[in-house]
Amino acid sequence: MRIALLTGGGDCPGLNAVIYAAVKKGINHYGDEFIGFLNGWRGVLDNQFIPLTLESTDGIQLRGGTILHSSRTNVKKIPGGIEKVQEVLKQNKIDALIALGGDDTQSVTLFLAEHGINAIGVPKTIDNDINGTDATFGFDTAVMIATEAVDRIHTTADSHNRVVVVEVMGRDAGWIAMASGVAGGAHVTLVPEKPIDIDHVCALLKYNYDHGKHYGVVVVAEGCHLPEGGQVTGSGEVDAFGHARLSGIGEALAGLIEKKTGFETRSVNLGHTQRGGVPTAYDRLLGQRYGLHAIDMVHQGKWGRIAVLHGTDITDITIKEAIATNRRLDQRFFDVIDGVQAKVK
Ligand code: F6P
Repeated sequence: MRIALLTGGGDCPGLNAVIYAAVKKGINHYGDEFIGFLNGWRGVLDNQFIPLTLESTDGIQLRGGTILHSSRTNVKKIPGGIEKVQEVLKQNKIDALIALGGDDTQSVTLFLAEHGINAIGVPKTIDNDINGTDATFGFDTAVMIATEAVDRIHTTADSHNRVVVVEVMGRDAGWIAMASGVAGGAHVTLVPEKPIDIDHVCALLKYNYDHGKHYGVVVVAEGCHLPEGGQVTGSGEVDAFGHARLSGIGEALAGLIEKKTGFETRSVNLGHTQRGGVPTAYDRLLGQRYGLHAIDMVHQGKWGRIAVLHGTDITDITIKEAIATNRRLDQRFFDVIDGVQAKVK
């Protein structure tokens, strides 16, 4: 078969591992040929691609980012977009398309599959919030990076007797905040699934000061809602899928904490650092397992489906199910956060 791959949405450590494994198994086991469209769906519309061979993909599973580059392009909103995609795929004699992306990218994959295009999906996001899969590659790497940052914040916050608020990514899901906050020993961990109780946050920090520890570390997810004002959306711009850019809650929260407690407070926004650099061993392995399953799905004609991790097995579900809702933290994880925080009234 002649197969095209693309990567859409925010990049994510492990994307290259998926590409590597799909191409390797496709060529060696099935005798396939591959091209990679550049810059997500934008490259399909512009007919921009590179050949993917054993040589050009050699060693990429070790590298972060995506060799295919990425964009947030919503084909559904572009007049004539679907026809253009059909035309470009036909022109390049593409038998099947593998789209690596989060819920926005996969909404396009589903739309195309419903319009007769042989397309399947591989879930991608550091946010770990795709419905129907236990883990997405990139999450482990993001958590490692955020945890290392939180570790480092402890010593400088301690030296200066300060509170430091660390803002992490995750959109409306608190997976990165929960994991890095608990793993990094934050005194307060705030997730978007729960409203911020500022008095409780201040009481937790005061507890430290009253018990001989004159500093505090707070981890806050970018998607948390402030008691007044809701989410902090930075510049206020929205992307092609209508999502506002979330950024700045750490700084806003630091101001509130300093005002209410009198403790000198700083903030740091980890931002895109969490998506950068090499993937962890776990993400390299998970990405390659997704890639191997994706190429099998293509040869089984599983159009409109997406690879997922269930327990320790890689299997697949419909894209419709995967994008129907976001997977968010539940009581089991709230209990973890609460269980390791101080007990204050
Ligand atoms: O969805 C992944 C993610 O990193 C979110 O955690 C974050 O809100 C968003 O992407 C940032 O997007 P961009 O790279 O477009 O600023």
